[in-house]
Amino acid sequence: MKTSQEKHKVEGEKQLEDQTKSKASRWLWLRRSPALLDALRRLFEPPKRLIEPYVKDSQVVADLGCGSGYCTLALAELVGSEGKVYAVDLDRKCIRALEKRANKSGYRNIEVHAVSAADVSFIKDRSVDFVLANGLLCSMADNRQSAVNEIKRILKSTGQAYLSLGFGLPLGFVGQAEWEKTLEEFRVEQGGSYKEKWAVVSLRKE
Ligand SMILES: C[S@@+](CC[C@H](N)C(=O)[O-])C[C@H]1O[C@@H](n2cnc3c(N)ncnc32)[C@H](O)[C@@H]1O
Repeated sequence: MKTSQEKHKVEGEKQLEDQTKSKASRWLWLRRSPALLDALRRLFEPPKRLIEPYVKDSQVVADLGCGSGYCTLALAELVGSEGKVYAVDLDRKCIRALEKRANKSGYRNIEVHAVSAADVSFIKDRSVDFVLANGLLCSMADNRQSAVNEIKRILKSTGQAYLSLGFGLPLGFVGQAEWEKTLEEFRVEQGGSYKEKWAVVSLRKE
């Protein structure tokens, strides 16, 4: 019998294979390369500038589809030693690269998981102050609704999530109708148009 980790690994490898076949993959793979591309990206999209408005000291945050940790280390710095960062990515290589970077920089507040964001059951309900899903949904070949459900499950009632699409169709997997339907499940606080491809959202009040 397969353990849940093994199941995720098989599921993950299949999904990555699908991505590699898709048109999007060339670009998505590029976005996952660590050092050189990160240095270039820092010039246009410094990670701290993206997340600083939403993250405070001692908070619990989740970086879903964290890649090799472009924003994860900045999150770890912002929440400090009393806070915690869950870093989740399907790609084991990315997770290994992130672990190396975190160890090198001395961060002890990052918990890494090489699993799908579609099932983050190791994170308790209503326990997370901020979810970063930067370029996640557009990179998921399937199970996107499960990932959205997980974001809704783990967010505190006072929490916020930053959702963004690196690319729309056909380079990414999410078109305008799906993006708008996803946002309807939340309260949109900032952004939200398909043209902008990012939104800061919180839970709808029941
Ligand atoms: C465009 S990259 C963004 C990486 C990172 N958030 C950043 O801003 O640099 C998308 C990431 O999502 C990951 N990914 C794709 N499908 C996933 C899934 N089902 N669960 C978790 N991560 C996934 C990919 O491996 C990739 O690292």
